[in-house]
Amino acid sequence: MSKTSRFGTGKRESHDSSEFYNSGLYTPGLTATFFKLLERIKSTKRTVPQRDLGEWTNQIYRSTSERMGEIPDESVGLVFTSPPYNVGKEYDQNLDLMDYLLLMCRVGSEVYRVLKPGGRYVINIANLGRKPYIPMTAYFYLIHGVLEFQPAGEIIWQKAKGANNSCAWGSWMSARAPRIRDIHEYLLVFAKDDFSRPDKGESDISRDEFMSNTLSIWEVMPESAKKIGHPAPFPVELASRVIRSYSYVDDVILDPFCGSGTTCLAAKLNGRPYVGYEIMEEYCDLAERRLLGVGG
Ligand SMILES: C[S@@+](CC[C@H](N)C(=O)[O-])C[C@H]1O[C@@H](n2cnc3c(N)ncnc32)[C@H](O)[C@@H]1O
Repeated sequence: MSKTSRFGTGKRESHDSSEFYNSGLYTPGLTATFFKLLERIKSTKRTVPQRDLGEWTNQIYRSTSERMGEIPDESVGLVFTSPPYNVGKEYDQNLDLMDYLLLMCRVGSEVYRVLKPGGRYVINIANLGRKPYIPMTAYFYLIHGVLEFQPAGEIIWQKAKGANNSCAWGSWMSARAPRIRDIHEYLLVFAKDDFSRPDKGESDISRDEFMSNTLSIWEVMPESAKKIGHPAPFPVELASRVIRSYSYVDDVILDPFCGSGTTCLAAKLNGRPYVGYEIMEEYCDLAERRLLGVGG
């Protein structure tokens, strides 16, 4: 991961990675304080009473998902998101690793509250950097385990077939310093309380889709940041696959970091009610424009 232009990655050949490696993410240390704070977040209990779906769904809330006070307890069937990566995108806050993970914990704790028993939290995340490599997935398993989510599987989102125009090999045809160039990201699947949904509901997935979606590698072309107008959108197809695999037709779908609104759009296209949270006004406007453009 190197310095990024607003919409997408600059040419690898001439990239300057100093900003990335000087970022807060590379400040070391998950200390005892971190685990104390994590426990404190876990023990902070908030309760939001039930309300009619029409009062709180099909909206993008222009606020932080650290408090999702609009959403009643145990009212959401599926949460799908891609969190800010904290790597210098314009919306990133350059938090150090501990503060970044605490942000993820505050949001994760709210996700836990709003999910129905057996509901799923699917997180799209990539591991970052090379010198050293930051195994974000490992940290995400750690913190969501503390929050009492059950790990329920991992999907490799394969974004390209093979070598693209990147040539950041590290050392060419030499064992001196070969670098691995990721052509994938992860979808970590967590469940609340139970690996099966205790409630019965209708599913709308086809036989072929079910067969391919239950395999651990999904090949889906990435979305163009420039076309969408957001630095890191994921494709509608990815969100649709997650929605049809992990939610019933009348489940509410939530994206706590909704960006350009892709998850909400996929929910609408698949006939599900949705809710999104986003702190940047510009992206809220974009998400609402995209949602207005489709029926449902
Ligand atoms: C990786 S992007 C999500 C992109 C989205 N999946 C899409 O397809 O457009 C993460 C988003 O989270 C937003 N964000 C960052 N911190 C947030 C917070 N505390 N609450 C809500 N949104 C936040 C950022 O502004 C950014 O748009």
